[in-house]
Amino acid sequence: MGIEGNDWVLMKTARAPSNIAVIKYWGKRDENLILPINSSISVTLDYLFATTTVAVSPSFTSDRLWLNGKEVSMESKRYKNCLQQIRSRATDVVDEKTGLVVKKESWKDLYVHVASKNNFPTAAGLASSAAGFACLVYALAHLMGAKESYEGEFSTIARLGSGSACRSLYGGFVKWNMGKEDDGSDSIATQIVKKDHWKDLVIIIAVVSSRQKETSSTAGMQTSVKTSPLLQHRAQSVVPKRMVEMEEAIMKRDFATFAKLTCADSNQFHATCLDTSPPIFYMNDTSRRLIGLVEKWNASEGTPQAAYTFDAGPNAVLFAPDDKVARSLLQRILYLFPPASDADISRYVVGDQSIMELAG
Ligand code: DP6
Repeated sequence: MGIEGNDWVLMKTARAPSNIAVIKYWGKRDENLILPINSSISVTLDYLFATTTVAVSPSFTSDRLWLNGKEVSMESKRYKNCLQQIRSRATDVVDEKTGLVVKKESWKDLYVHVASKNNFPTAAGLASSAAGFACLVYALAHLMGAKESYEGEFSTIARLGSGSACRSLYGGFVKWNMGKEDDGSDSIATQIVKKDHWKDLVIIIAVVSSRQKETSSTAGMQTSVKTSPLLQHRAQSVVPKRMVEMEEAIMKRDFATFAKLTCADSNQFHATCLDTSPPIFYMNDTSRRLIGLVEKWNASEGTPQAAYTFDAGPNAVLFAPDDKVARSLLQRILYLFPPASDADISRYVVGDQSIMELAG
């Protein structure tokens, strides 16, 4: 089969997980290249993922994108930047099944169609853009035969889609180094350790609300950079030290330190939002009651039993050091938020990561 005819379609499908930051990224020093004002660390959430199919055909007349079944514009700079970066790295591709050959120089004249869906509600604000852009970049690279010329290069491309997306290209614990270069070439994500490094750790996602957030992360952090003195202090004087301590805690599987840093960083991030003018509120009463539950429990035991963190929304990601403690945590949550009926609470336990919906 040659590339001359218009009757062929080449397709690839990929899956990429979401992630939750335990040291938060908040604020950019370059809006176009999405370069952050501080480094960050995340845990990959394997069970919340995006699945993306990318297709190319000479019969396509424009780049098009469908998100969860609905067509959306691909005109945004973020999509364009990712696509352009992968296109510029395209190579000769031979489709093993059909023998179809797409030459390197043909890619610039070919349009792509992208269909992506999440296995979790996009509106729930569980880092859907992170999974989505990581998946897009990975699938496109696969389709176009693009290869990394240095480790982490694709994370610099996913970063152009959404900052937190660069961390979703790896599993386990991941670090996004803010970098120093103006072109962003060293603002890359790398894996700290694989998931099986800390097998006992249990992650519980409490979906407090599936309502869309009022202030997007992109807009929120722009206002914080402009108006919050606390954000500058955080980026310069707090995060650098926490990055070192957090990496060490992860390496040592030191839950007490991990929990202390995770909660403190989430709280400082939300304090920064409150320090922004006008202030931004991402957490709600249910979020705050969950914080109270964990804090009281930890104080009564004298050592951290659990940890919490909240991104730009009210949903909680909770950590427990092992199954036994996780079970106790779930019991306490159910006591605080008793399900009024079976329909009020739906909980999916998948492997070592659980998702639960809270009534209230
Ligand atoms: C609170 O990566 O969504 O989740 O780079 O503008 O797309 P853009 O923002 P985004 O921000 C994530 C912010 C956060 C913290 C984090 O994930 O580190």
